[in-house]
Amino acid sequence: MGTSATTTAGLRISVLLLLAFFTARISITQAATNGGDLSVLNSLKDVWANTPPNWVGGDPCGDNWDGISCSGIRVTSITLSSTGLSGQLSGDIASLSELQILDLSYNKGLRGNLPQSIGNLKKLTNLILVGCSFSGPIPDSVGSLTRLTYLSLNSNGFTGTIPPSIGNLINLYWLDLADNQLEGSVPVSDGDTPGLDLLVNTKHFHFGKNQLTGSIPTKLFNSSMTLLHVLFDSNKLTGNIPPTLGQVNSLEVLRLDRNSLTGTVPGSFNNLGSLTELSLSNNDLNGPFPNITGMTVLSSMDMSNNSFDSSSFPSWISSMGSLTTLMLENTQLQGPVPAGLFSLPNLQTVNLARNDLNGSLDIGPSHSSQLQLIDMQSNFISDYRQRPGANDVDIILLRNPVCDETPNGPRQSYCIPPDRNSKYTTPSNSCVPGRCSSNKTASPNCACAFAYTGLLVFRAPSFSDLGNATIFTALQRSLMDSFRSTQLPVDAVQLSNPRKDSSEYLDIDLKVFPYGQDFFNRSGVSRIAFSLSNQTFKPPSMFGPFFFLGDEYTHFDGGGSGSKKSASTGIIIGAAVGGIVLVLMVILAAVYAFRQKKRAQKATEQSHPFAHWDATENTGGFPQLKGARCFSFDELKKYTNNFSDANAIGSGGYGKVYRGVLPTGHLLAIKRAQRESMQGGHEFKTEIELLSRVHHKNVVSLVGFCFEQGEQMLIYEYVPNGTLGDALSGKSGISMEWTRRLKVALGAARGLAYLHELADPPIIHRDIKSANILLDERLTAKVADFGLSKLMGDSEKGHVTTQVKGTMGYLDPEYYMTQQLTEKSDVYSFGVVLLELATAKRPIERGKYIVREVKMAMDKTKSLYNLQTVIDPAICNESLKGLDKFVDLAMSCVHETGADRPSMGDVVKEIELILQQAGLNPNADSVSTSATYEEAEKGSPRHPYSKESFEYSGGFPPSKLEPQ
Ligand SMILES: *[C@@H]1O[C@H](CO)[C@@H](O)[C@H](O)[C@H]1NC(C)=O
Ligand SMILES: *[C@@H]1O[C@H](CO)[C@@H](O)[C@H](O)[C@H]1NC(C)=O
Ligand SMILES: *[C@@H]1O[C@H](CO)[C@@H](O)[C@H](O)[C@H]1NC(C)=O
Ligand SMILES: *[C@@H]1O[C@H](CO)[C@@H](O)[C@H](O)[C@H]1NC(C)=O
Repeated sequence: MGTSATTTAGLRISVLLLLAFFTARISITQAATNGGDLSVLNSLKDVWANTPPNWVGGDPCGDNWDGISCSGIRVTSITLSSTGLSGQLSGDIASLSELQILDLSYNKGLRGNLPQSIGNLKKLTNLILVGCSFSGPIPDSVGSLTRLTYLSLNSNGFTGTIPPSIGNLINLYWLDLADNQLEGSVPVSDGDTPGLDLLVNTKHFHFGKNQLTGSIPTKLFNSSMTLLHVLFDSNKLTGNIPPTLGQVNSLEVLRLDRNSLTGTVPGSFNNLGSLTELSLSNNDLNGPFPNITGMTVLSSMDMSNNSFDSSSFPSWISSMGSLTTLMLENTQLQGPVPAGLFSLPNLQTVNLARNDLNGSLDIGPSHSSQLQLIDMQSNFISDYRQRPGANDVDIILLRNPVCDETPNGPRQSYCIPPDRNSKYTTPSNSCVPGRCSSNKTASPNCACAFAYTGLLVFRAPSFSDLGNATIFTALQRSLMDSFRSTQLPVDAVQLSNPRKDSSEYLDIDLKVFPYGQDFFNRSGVSRIAFSLSNQTFKPPSMFGPFFFLGDEYTHFDGGGSGSKKSASTGIIIGAAVGGIVLVLMVILAAVYAFRQKKRAQKATEQSHPFAHWDATENTGGFPQLKGARCFSFDELKKYTNNFSDANAIGSGGYGKVYRGVLPTGHLLAIKRAQRESMQGGHEFKTEIELLSRVHHKNVVSLVGFCFEQGEQMLIYEYVPNGTLGDALSGKSGISMEWTRRLKVALGAARGLAYLHELADPPIIHRDIKSANILLDERLTAKVADFGLSKLMGDSEKGHVTTQVKGTMGYLDPEYYMTQQLTEKSDVYSFGVVLLELATAKRPIERGKYIVREVKMAMDKTKSLYNLQTVIDPAICNESLKGLDKFVDLAMSCVHETGADRPSMGDVVKEIELILQQAGLNPNADSVSTSATYEEAEKGSPRHPYSKESFEYSGGFPPSKLEPQ
């Protein structure tokens, strides 16, 4: 128990430890970003304020500038949402000729016109500028972006007319121009002039909340169209509803409400058999009340506030079995309400206010169990028959004879306007939230964090009962599932305060909580925002079409609102900043040195947890340490040339890794924790005890440690050929043919199986990834970095409940969901590594998740499982013996349910089998002849240490013990 409780607090931070950097020195020159693209980004940086702080240097692609994705040396995507960008979109952007995705949503500070030159971005597929402050006309040139699938310009200040050229965007899936100041009529084709009627592949026409005028052209709709959602609500449209709309029988949602449409509802409407939401309210429609019995799946109908001919209540409505919501306010209905209406099984809301309905109201003995509200204000109802079991239904009969007759008597509940606001908030996840400091909020998991917030707006939900928690739980689940399946860094989401706004949109406040730390970084926020702005997230169907308006996120540094500079002053003071920064750095350095000194003094004063196993004492004194030696600070200082930068081979959140050279010439890797990453002395000691017990050919050995002068260092064997990740990316110049990959897979699997099945107590690694598998001089795989390891120790149930840690892309979804850690979580991560071996793709590359990509491409009936397009091009000319079995194995490792994944022991056996069937000896050394290795080295800088002998002869032999 003591051991499992004291794991790794400080070293957890070493999630950032990339032993990758062990080989930083030998990496060959990286491809620099295309010069043209670089200068475009620099010019955007000049005119924008609040660009990401890591937009420095000359290699946006190589240095992973936040929000920038590249293919090779070309910039292919810019996604920077909710990051407080401000300024104008300069026409220079047109030179990013390979750009495919531009998403700058939710930056209220982005203003001015869209440049005409945007039409030069011929490769653009997604142009998403939701919720900014752009103004002026939408340039006609967007019509040249013929690859566009998403054009989302909603919630800006665009003026002018809809460019007819949009009709040329034949690949368009989503067209959203809602919530702007667009005017004029809807363009349709005419001779050589294109128009929106040509968009036969588009599913979404979202034009609500503009100033569009004229009638909806008859030509706009035809039977070749495949529209799902047509939204023209809240415009100034006049004239008749075009009968051609009835030809678009794919239509599911139609909103023409809040215009000035006149005439009768065309009879062709009855052909819209897939329609689930229909709103024609707040127009001047006249003629007979429309007969729409053909809309058999209609769930929400709103005809309110029109000028239909007076008529009795349409009896056919009582047979529309899917109806949840019936809104017929002020539609000249007269006579009694049929009692059968309320037996519709899904009925939730009925609004019949301001009609001439009379007689007695009786909701019948078997009314819908979902019934929430019957609003019949201002009618002539003279009597209400209370039925048992109707107490949950809010009935409003204000301004009816039944309420007016007893003005001074006791008021019946149905004569008082009810309070109908839903107070729903996603409940806590069986925990009690504490008080959070400053602007942090408590997540449903009761962790205080800086949430990313915004407003989800559903434009036509098919339900109206906002008190039903089941519905919001379903939405919250689907959000989490979506974030999880794309490995976004999200711990939890919270929905609250669902409400209908004045346009009958359903608004819900959304809070997204960060995973692993208490704030998001820029790329996290942008990726989450993109999954909402690009509609990658699909809500349950009852919610219908939605959009998201994100708030600006100001906690990228984990603190309060970030510093802001205005665009213009930014440039002016730019030069001065350099000098100031220098001065600041000098001051900081001085402060740091001072504190470092004080800390060192303090640490030496403290009781020393290592006192009884100090190095100077006799080695016999500490049986719990097998092989790990205590180094003095001075010694390590000497080996690393005073921790010189030249010897720094890696760095991360935990501190730095140095290469050290022993007097014997042997090499060490020294991981030196910085102050913030340090753990308590006793935890550090436990960590060392754990690490020093682990000895296996496929696991990196701990050689020693140092706990002196306020320092915490772990000293590992030096593994010269870098990480598997670097080898696969080509960075380390090692050629990785298929059989070598199989052997590396086997080695890593054996190392991990040892940790799970033979180490005592068993160890769950928690951060298996290609950056934590190192290759030694013989290219033997070695599992490294136990910074996150969790002992299985006393856990009886076979799992430990812990806060979720790990690396996105490798994370077991089951662990992520349940927070219960088992060995099977490592198996999942290992499965991802296997897929990396086959594809040489990083687990998440340009928003694509390797597991999903392989699943989608896979077809077992075809040769190579049809995976030719995802397999690493570097090996696709080899005979890929056993690839099918290998992929089968990987897929079984990434099975959704841990219980259905193989154990690491099984994985080892399976890879051994694959090797044997490929005619290889699974027990041969990784590099079978030195010739292969030499060959592998050809054409790349030879690693200076690859031929060093690695026999330790000092007092601390890294034990070559095989599994104990
Ligand atoms: C409504 O239309 C359907 C066919 O479209 C017809 O069978 C039915 O009689 C009509 N109902 C009324 C009340 O007009
Ligand atoms: C809540 O909604 C679900 C899903 O639509 C439905 O099955 C359930 O009956 C509703 N509950 C109530 C109390 O209306
Ligand atoms: C955008 O969303 C669609 C689904 O709506 C998805 O197919 C597509 O992959 C997304 N684009 C990116 C780049 O993720
Ligand atoms: C908290 O948020 C408010 C408004 O968003 C801001 O004015 C205030 O400075 C923030 N406080 C801290 C401590 O970040």
